[in-house]
Amino acid sequence: MSSKLIAPSVLAADFANLQRDIEMVNNSKADWFHIDIMDGVFVPNISFGMPVLQTIAKYAKKTIDVHLMIVDPDRYIKTFSDLGSDVLTVHYEACTHLHRTLQAIKAEGMKAGVALNPHTNINVLEDVIKDIDLVCIMSVNPGFGGQSFIENTYDKVKALKELIIRKGASTQIEIDGGVTNKNAKTLVDAGADILVAGSYVFKSDNQIETVKGLKAIANS
Ligand code: DX5
Ligand code: ZN
Repeated sequence: MSSKLIAPSVLAADFANLQRDIEMVNNSKADWFHIDIMDGVFVPNISFGMPVLQTIAKYAKKTIDVHLMIVDPDRYIKTFSDLGSDVLTVHYEACTHLHRTLQAIKAEGMKAGVALNPHTNINVLEDVIKDIDLVCIMSVNPGFGGQSFIENTYDKVKALKELIIRKGASTQIEIDGGVTNKNAKTLVDAGADILVAGSYVFKSDNQIETVKGLKAIANS
């Protein structure tokens, strides 16, 4: 079985010491940088935009996984590719022509991801799953870090894993929101491949050790 990945969410970093926190991720056992872009319309919060991502990309030495919580994401696919995104995830709820959006992301050389809000059933991806490189299951309502994990996520991950197998797809499953050492193992056992963790990593006393511990649990 391939190694399970840890993706610290930079939303929880100390922006006054952004370079330091990026270097922490570079030097840790983390696999990806998870970058949350919020527009204040799709979600009730605004995070940061292109200049900040450009700075992150300048120092980041690992895969850059961008999670767009914005309406009409098609407008910015090329921009995010030019800024150095390796994975670009759009929300199912924000895309009228999801299939077209996925092809446009791949045409820019990025992996194409689709995020599902907690209320969105995985079945909506049935006809497009083979075109998706990554499904991001939101285990909190998007918009803020530090929220508590929604327990229904476990069943959702299992159902998605079944769909992926049934369709012969090679889609990876990412979990985003409220991930800690308490739920990591259960999520991986249910079928998760990538665990995003913001507050759990950045608000801990020893971030390097926290990442190491989470990586070990996810691969135990
Ligand atoms: C929420 C974001 C998450 C968030 C996770 O809208 O998509 O990536 O940063 O933060 P924690 O791990 O603190 O729930
Ligand atoms: Zn996210």
